[in-house]
Amino acid sequence: MRIAIVGSGYVGLATGVSLAEVGHHVTCIDKDAGKIKMLQSGKSPIYEPGLEAFIIKNLEAGYLSFSNDIDNGCSTAEIIYITVGTPQNKDGTTDLTDIKEASIDIAKTISQDVIVVTKSTVPVGTSETLKQLIEENLVHPVSIEIVSNPEFLREGSAIHDTFNGDRIVIGATNNFAAGVIEEVNRPFNVPIVKTELRDAEMIKYASNAFLATKISFINEIATICEKVGANVDHVASAMGMDKRIGHQFLQAGIGYGGSCFPKDTKALIQLSGNVEHDFELLKSVVKVNNNQQDLLVEKAKQRFKSLTGRRVTLLGLAFKPNTNDMREAASITVVDKLIAEKAEIIVYDPVANETAKRTLPEGVNYADSFQTAVKDAEVVFILTEWEEFKQIDLSEFKRLMKIPIIFDGRNCFDLDVMRVYEIEYHSIGRPSILR
Ligand code: UGA
Repeated sequence: MRIAIVGSGYVGLATGVSLAEVGHHVTCIDKDAGKIKMLQSGKSPIYEPGLEAFIIKNLEAGYLSFSNDIDNGCSTAEIIYITVGTPQNKDGTTDLTDIKEASIDIAKTISQDVIVVTKSTVPVGTSETLKQLIEENLVHPVSIEIVSNPEFLREGSAIHDTFNGDRIVIGATNNFAAGVIEEVNRPFNVPIVKTELRDAEMIKYASNAFLATKISFINEIATICEKVGANVDHVASAMGMDKRIGHQFLQAGIGYGGSCFPKDTKALIQLSGNVEHDFELLKSVVKVNNNQQDLLVEKAKQRFKSLTGRRVTLLGLAFKPNTNDMREAASITVVDKLIAEKAEIIVYDPVANETAKRTLPEGVNYADSFQTAVKDAEVVFILTEWEEFKQIDLSEFKRLMKIPIIFDGRNCFDLDVMRVYEIEYHSIGRPSILR
């Protein structure tokens, strides 16, 4: 099939590249000329394992192309995926400006019948609105069908998730359009669920909200574990053995971040409010997460009384490992709080340092390795569970730090192992190790 992807961010690129990999002819479009130039030369603008290799392979094979001209690709496409960002407004509602603009641009280029697929996360009912918008702005007398095909991939494992997903959801009112998108996705060999348009849009919000709920739940259990002297890792592990609960998303930590959970939970709360339902449970999930992001600094403040002038190192800035994305990352909250405390801040992330320089306020010092980051530190905060940190020879902390005290927001190390190294170690939902 000839497919155009409008919006070459995370979702757009992962989708486009994967569709090219299974043999479709795909053009990924983006307004950002610099990004398109980079992609045309085979370079990925985002850090995502496996993505660049697929870009190079499919560019060379002629299945994939990139353009910043929406006409190029859209006018002759049989299917157009909309994958532009749907950020949140200040009040938590979804900002549909870009997706509406993209829909109007698409309408003006279409010169043959086409199926438009919304992959961006949009409030229930939006796909119908977009169909109407496109129809109102068509230049040629063509027919369009709309399909909602929400994305379930995770950053950091986007390509793996596309080929190993648990389900592909296809929402449509038109059976023919649903059937075409089913065929397009068949090579991924992932179970396909066909639903109504609004069901598909809701499935996406409900799934993300549920996963966020699991995380806040285990974080609450972690807080209680600390108070009663239990170990949340042991608790979560045995809870997860119950197949009705499952192991995933029960890792206690400094709370969820990223471009999805924080935004989608708030959007669902707003959406519920619009239909006069107070989603109390989800409001608590968000509140618990906000508190969780403050937790490490609060613990450190209790430990030291004051952090003023103290040399504090943050290990990990990305909202999770294997990405350079820092959107809604706990590290941003932690840095703000440390600045307010007048601490001396040194940060290091294996891939997100450059993102951090554009994101974090002035006054933060950047280190280019673990060793330079922790040298002479009085406290280390671990904020992202990068494999590089988990593999560190723990004696390095004692050797390099002025005082070896760690506040681990990701429970990277086994308590029994840590005890051997005489490091003061505080983690989430587990007994502290004091020297
Ligand atoms: C999430 C969903 O997992 C995807 O299914 C969905 O497609 C995506 O949002 C989206 O809506 O586009 P993502 O935000 O990339 O994916 O990352 P996750 O792996 O879900 O992690 C989100 C946050 O939760 C991270 O900050 C992570 O550290 C945190 N987390 C995750 C925990 O604190 N504990 C866990 O057990 C799992």
